[in-house]
Amino acid sequence: MSNVFYTPGVQRAARVNDLFAAIARRYDLLNDLQSFGLHRRWKRRVAELAAVQPGGRALDLCCGTGDIAFALARRGAEVTGLDFSQKMLEVAESRRLKKPELKTQKLIFIQGDAQQIPFSDATFDIVTVGYGLRNLMNWETGLAEMQRVARPGARLVVLDFGKPANALWRKIYFGHLRCSVPLVGWLFCGNADAYAYILESLKHYPAQLAVAEKMRELKLVNVHVINLLGGAMAINYGEKPA
Ligand SMILES: C[S@@+](CC[C@H](N)C(=O)[O-])C[C@H]1O[C@@H](n2cnc3c(N)ncnc32)[C@H](O)[C@@H]1O
Repeated sequence: MSNVFYTPGVQRAARVNDLFAAIARRYDLLNDLQSFGLHRRWKRRVAELAAVQPGGRALDLCCGTGDIAFALARRGAEVTGLDFSQKMLEVAESRRLKKPELKTQKLIFIQGDAQQIPFSDATFDIVTVGYGLRNLMNWETGLAEMQRVARPGARLVVLDFGKPANALWRKIYFGHLRCSVPLVGWLFCGNADAYAYILESLKHYPAQLAVAEKMRELKLVNVHVINLLGGAMAINYGEKPA
């Protein structure tokens, strides 16, 4: 079944932008409801795996309302959060103002395209992306861009929905994404389609195993996959050779 927010090809970015503009104000609430708060733990795990050194430069792509950028900043990184959605960035900025512990941290949010990152090669010590690659017209371009802007020795960390290897669990989980997730999206955000999009986009995204393979193809080393909830979520990470 197709989804109003999923269009393959060059129209993809415009539809995805419409989606996040529509749900930006409710995005954080819905994340808490849909994941029972677990997304916070997974994002903290991303920040742990990023192995921040004080003053290290971090780029959080598709930063949305800022969760991962905040977690990296709390660990002492100088963080740039990049997203193409003005509305999501507005929420990120307003949340930042409510976090006094981050007042002295170097943390900026900028508007930009994850498929054409507006930084030179080898700029960052850490490059993260949470629930972002799956939304790109070409996720491989996004990953290649992450590798390009990473310094030698930098760590790349990717968090996203995954595809469980166990067929029965995958069926149950996809059923949940097909039914309960859009229902909760409709009840609390008035937008079932925006949440039905998760399953549609996941069907077109090859998930954790292909991300690991692509990381190796990009010559990253120490490539790992961490499956969460039996592979329903996954964290991929790897390092650019020093
Ligand atoms: C599901 S949200 C994830 C937000 C945040 N990283 C988190 O984990 O809560 C996906 C984000 O990716 C952004 N995005 C999608 N395509 C993008 C692109 N081509 N360039 C930059 N941002 C993009 C959207 O605007 C949205 O804020």
